[in-house]
Amino acid sequence: MCGIVGVAGRINAESVLVEGLRRLEYRGYDSAGIAVQTAEGPLLRARAAGKVSALEAAMTPELTGATGIAHTRWATHGAPTEGNAHPHRAGRVCVVHNGIIENFKVLRETLQNEGREFASETDSEVIAHLLDRELDRGQAPKDALLAVLEQLEGAFALAAIIEGETDLVLGARRGAPLVAAIGDGVCFLASDIMAIAGEARSVIYLEEGDAAVVRPSGVDVYDSAGQAVTRPLSPASVSMVLAEKGNHRHFMQKEIYEQPEVVGRTLAAYVDAVSGCVRPREGIDFSQITRLFIVGCGTASYAGQIAEYWFEAVSGLPVKVDIASEFRYRNPAFLEGDAALFISQSGETADTLEALRLCKRAGLTTIALVNSPHSSMAREADLVAPTLAGPEIGVASTKAFTCQLSALASLAVLAGAQRGRLSAEQQAGHVANLMSVPSLMAAALKIEQEIDALATELAHASIVLYLGRNEFFPLALEGALKLKEISYIHAEGYAAGELKHGPIALIEEDVAVIVIAPHDALFNKTRSSIQEVRARGARVIAITDEPGASELEGEISAQLLLPRLTGMAAPIVSSVAVQLLAYYVAVHKGTDVDQPRNLAKSVTVE
Ligand code: F6R
Repeated sequence: MCGIVGVAGRINAESVLVEGLRRLEYRGYDSAGIAVQTAEGPLLRARAAGKVSALEAAMTPELTGATGIAHTRWATHGAPTEGNAHPHRAGRVCVVHNGIIENFKVLRETLQNEGREFASETDSEVIAHLLDRELDRGQAPKDALLAVLEQLEGAFALAAIIEGETDLVLGARRGAPLVAAIGDGVCFLASDIMAIAGEARSVIYLEEGDAAVVRPSGVDVYDSAGQAVTRPLSPASVSMVLAEKGNHRHFMQKEIYEQPEVVGRTLAAYVDAVSGCVRPREGIDFSQITRLFIVGCGTASYAGQIAEYWFEAVSGLPVKVDIASEFRYRNPAFLEGDAALFISQSGETADTLEALRLCKRAGLTTIALVNSPHSSMAREADLVAPTLAGPEIGVASTKAFTCQLSALASLAVLAGAQRGRLSAEQQAGHVANLMSVPSLMAAALKIEQEIDALATELAHASIVLYLGRNEFFPLALEGALKLKEISYIHAEGYAAGELKHGPIALIEEDVAVIVIAPHDALFNKTRSSIQEVRARGARVIAITDEPGASELEGEISAQLLLPRLTGMAAPIVSSVAVQLLAYYVAVHKGTDVDQPRNLAKSVTVE
């Protein structure tokens, strides 16, 4: 949420800053801004409402220098206008900020009483004034920064430059990600290493509470007590190089198509196909766990809900799934033997991270199932279970979701084996089933044309209901979320059996109802739900397989045919259909598929 880039000591820093913003734009795209220290002396700044392209148009040739900061914003306090765009300026200081300064009102009032004038409605502007005030008091830049950090409450990552300090960028993080990086005679700050991939040789993953003084010659780091500390340098790996769209029209489409490969890669990290076993993971012993909390937000929480069915059925391990924003504030009651697993693509989602910290404080073993190996969750959890989806740029999660499901299914089998619920033969059966996912997904992707045709019609719907049973219920929730977020159609997911307890009142002539109806043990029950909505005039689209389609002949308006699916592979492979459907509806509606309105990837504020 919000992207930050800072550069100290590179000719034409503005070009690196703008390129960095382009790469970070998926994190927020309400407005963008840049400030550079020019060779002539003054700090110059440009800001624009809207995307990075609007900022580029607003930049003049004079805006050039070797040191600067830039920001792409997802608005929290204050509308997404140019006036509220970062960098904020006060006196000699320009600041960019990601997060929320919770005590900004008190600070703002104090600063105003001292005669300082504010130009924006944001919480962030107080940081610029505070820093300028400390400099006015005669503090050196580093001491001024540390003094400001003591006054701030809330979560943030920030970067600042000071007029006249030609080779200095200041940075700090508390509760939001920020890395420092070192190149050849140039150093950087960024909220995601991807912003400066190709420019940096090594990376310093700043720790919670760290402040950084960044100069072309190196980076000095200070911990939350203001003590100089040495943080390890990690190589900036090539895999950090920015993902490209290739021949695809959107990142989301590319990421949907990458799934057979990345799911295969993720499964290979968990499963030994030759011996038909899930490899034990160091530190994870499900036989010692008596209950597993699974916590996440949005799509990640739906992956957790699907996994609940698997863990309980395959391993008999009781599972409790929670939405992180609820979990962290509801004083959950823990028992001896509880462990907690946190699912997150970014590993930085504020609510999930705080839920993890809550469980750590309570003494639970914490497992982070994350896609970003250097994220806060990966670093803070006791154990890490990786997904290997690679960078996900489309704001709507697709490949990260199916990789999460693949890792969770593997862990459920491991739990079954460790808890003595699965014979070697049963375990091998599950492993074979999971190993079939990549090729089944590749086959499922072939329904693209049918989906495209169906999406033309669905694009006109004003309301869509998604129904499913068992693991297909959370998948219905995920299908509805995908439709909502990228096509802006009001879509809701329901457990098919729950329909007559209220939601069926929504059905009227031509309401579109998408039913995920594989020909499984509950097929006939799902079929009854289809009859109920059809009898009330709904237009029913079934996501099913050959046997399902032949039984539903004449009972539905349209169908999407998936290969015959069984076991845990079924919801993973079926995800492709709900993703493609949302994608093509959005394309037909002409929405901004990769950067839908009001959203941002990596929600680092609560
Ligand atoms: C939906 C989507 C979000 C994320 C959620 C959690 O397509 O992407 O619902 O799943 O914000 O994000 P992570 O997984 O980064 O914690």
